[in-house]
Amino acid sequence: MTNTENLYKNIRAHIESHYPMLYLVTFEEQKADDLIRKLAKDDNRKIFEWNLARGVVNFEHKQPLINYQDLANTLESWLNDELTNHFLIIKDAHLAIRENPLVVARLKALAQKILHDADTTATVIFVSSQACIPPELEKFITLFELPLPDEAAINAVIKAFVEQFDDNIETKDLNDLTMAFRGLSEHEITQLLYRGYQQNGQIDGNDVALVLQEKEQIIKKSGILDMIVTVEQFDNVGGLTQLKTWLKQKADVLHNLNEALAFGVEAPKGVMIVGMPGCGKSLTAKATASLFKLPLLRLDVGSLMGKYVGESESNMRRALKLAEAVSPCVLWVDELEKAFVGIGSSSTSSEVATRLFGYFLTWMNDKTDAVFVLATANDISALPPELLRKGRFDEIFYVDFPNKSERENIFSIHLKKRNQHADIDLKKLAEKTDGFSGADIEAVVKEAIEMAFVNNRVAPTTESLIDIISNTHPLKEVMKHKIKEYEEKFKDLKIKAAS
Ligand SMILES: Nc1ncnc2c1ncn2[C@@H]1O[C@H](COP(=O)(O)OP(=O)(O)OP(=O)(O)O)[C@@H](O)[C@H]1O
Ligand SMILES: [Mg+2]
Repeated sequence: MTNTENLYKNIRAHIESHYPMLYLVTFEEQKADDLIRKLAKDDNRKIFEWNLARGVVNFEHKQPLINYQDLANTLESWLNDELTNHFLIIKDAHLAIRENPLVVARLKALAQKILHDADTTATVIFVSSQACIPPELEKFITLFELPLPDEAAINAVIKAFVEQFDDNIETKDLNDLTMAFRGLSEHEITQLLYRGYQQNGQIDGNDVALVLQEKEQIIKKSGILDMIVTVEQFDNVGGLTQLKTWLKQKADVLHNLNEALAFGVEAPKGVMIVGMPGCGKSLTAKATASLFKLPLLRLDVGSLMGKYVGESESNMRRALKLAEAVSPCVLWVDELEKAFVGIGSSSTSSEVATRLFGYFLTWMNDKTDAVFVLATANDISALPPELLRKGRFDEIFYVDFPNKSERENIFSIHLKKRNQHADIDLKKLAEKTDGFSGADIEAVVKEAIEMAFVNNRVAPTTESLIDIISNTHPLKEVMKHKIKEYEEKFKDLKIKAAS
């Protein structure tokens, strides 16, 4: 059974069991209308529709039936009407309900009427691009999301489009385009096909670039995911050789995914990098995207939190769908322990966090798309144990303070980055910097170069660097107690070392 058929059956079951209000989230009103039309026919319902632009309209041709009336007044009429076998459709629901107490109160009254008045048979169906359910209505409303077209459906749309112009498309181009279109709505796909056709009079593999541009636009407009453009070179990560080798292996798989899958290799899910502050976790995340040659999307869980019931979850779903849409990609969740704060305590916001977290875990488990999740965290004791269980992530790595040879490497990277090739005794610097993090080392190099410039505009020397080192208090010293605590926890959990 397809997604759409499943959804239809599920909604139908709710209608037959007299659920008073259903909420359909979709970017495609046309699709929602098709669904409602079929439901109305199969259940012998009359349709009343209200939309924000025109008020009460005829469902089929969308012409206004009466002079414009806002939703509050329309609800007042519905409350007074005899409702026998009706669908009451409310379009643009999130805009019409938001910050509108009278509408909320009348919707509540309408739900009561539907539930308790034996002569009333009606179902309210909200249609909107976003979920927005005020807490007062939560117990009356059931939320449904209309699925985006799957690969078979996309394939059919492209084929139909090409045939319409008596043209044909090569199988490889068809497959590439189908992959590229995933995550877009049918409407968006058709629009892009028209644009591709206008450009050169045919649909072919070259149109994939167009699709990717469009997806970048969609991400920027969404405001729920960041696309990070300036990424780090993989070679600029010092030390962490185990982690880097592991990542290179995954890169090989990702770059030849179909071949690897056919061979029996499992698609990489992702990696969690935990450990000491300033030691290269975020840096590795950025460098991984450039190693994989994939777009880097950053998910900020805090920014997904909304104040309406279902809003945060809906944002989370949208964010993950978007990531799937641009896949293959790297999805970076930075500071994971802060992302799902409050898990385990009892306030409402933490309930939401717990639900979001559960949703994220399920998604990680079930995801089939090439979205490589890269999570970074300091304080893993704040993370729920479910997350650390093997199977969620392919691997969990622990990043410790760099050892001597790693520090040498990191000094070299940061000096080179700033065009300092003079012969500096890196070994000596490494010896003097026990307990320094990568960030501490970077700070030393920066300061030495600035001092050298300000003093005589000569390159920094081993001595000038050592001078600064001896005046530096590394983080390990400043955060002594916290660091000790981390160290013990990591040891307890037996997490694989990144170096
Ligand atoms: N292993 C490393 N190699 C090269 N540079 C490093 C390394 N570790 C840290 N640095 C430097 O320090 C900066 C800060 O590191 P980064 O942001 O990756 O730390 P982090 O582990 O994410 O710390 P936090 O836990 O505070 O988020 C980096 O931008 C980089 O310049
Ligand atoms: Mg970081």
